[in-house]
Amino acid sequence: MISPILTVPGAGQAGPASLAEALEGGAVLMFPDLDFPLSPFETRFTERPFADGKAKNVNIRGKTATLRGAAGTPEEQAALRALLIRYREFAKGLIARYLPEYGTAITLAGTSYRPFDVDRRKMSWRRDDTRLHVDAFPSNPIGETRILRVFRNINPEGQPRLWRIGEDFGSMAEKFLPRLPGYSPLSARLLAALRITKAKRSEYDHLMLHLHDALKQDADYQAHAPQADVQFQPGETWVTFSDLVMHGAMGGRYMLEQTAYLPVAAQTHPDRSPQRILARKLGRPLQ
Ligand SMILES: [Fe+2]
Repeated sequence: MISPILTVPGAGQAGPASLAEALEGGAVLMFPDLDFPLSPFETRFTERPFADGKAKNVNIRGKTATLRGAAGTPEEQAALRALLIRYREFAKGLIARYLPEYGTAITLAGTSYRPFDVDRRKMSWRRDDTRLHVDAFPSNPIGETRILRVFRNINPEGQPRLWRIGEDFGSMAEKFLPRLPGYSPLSARLLAALRITKAKRSEYDHLMLHLHDALKQDADYQAHAPQADVQFQPGETWVTFSDLVMHGAMGGRYMLEQTAYLPVAAQTHPDRSPQRILARKLGRPLQ
């Protein structure tokens, strides 16, 4: 089964009963007409990339919203930072309005400006996000936390953001789990002691990292696994649990993205998390 795209109509029209339930079940929510206008000054950020080119994206993180990876004059960089802060508020408002079940359990993490065409930058296979994958963060173990992402296409020339969406997490995990190396609590402690990871890597983090790599390395799976091409048009906003939904970014430039964290326990159905799906497939709780 391929993850469905669920269009959420504008105010006053009837939409799906619980968007949180749909999301947790592996849907991508697509909002066709939410308002997020750019000022005349800001339109320059969609005309050329204001990025130093060292990292994949420009982003702000933390309470101070320090801008990283940006290029431009001090005035332009201040405006780009302000745009990202405004987008963070937009994403926060969207979550509060459409996913009220999560309440205060949601924490907002990084906000990014993605000005580059995905296929123009030659990446190693591990960093190649055109390959179908679920998100996992190598240096930042997340344990009992979910990764929710809010994306918006801000391309000024009508260019869509192209994604591939893959099969459901459970079907994918069944194929790949038997191939993954076993978890070692000892080496997880070592990685944390050496500060290679920011916290101790749990068995879940271990499995997700190896799933991420095994998926991206398997050319046959990439070519032949169940998948569908989708397009997100400029002005469209979409939301998904990127640790659950198999995706690959195939093209498009100028996008905004907000990452949010949600504890598994705060889900409407914790049993639909990748954490619990993996435990069920293994027939035991994760370490
Ligand atoms: Fe991703």
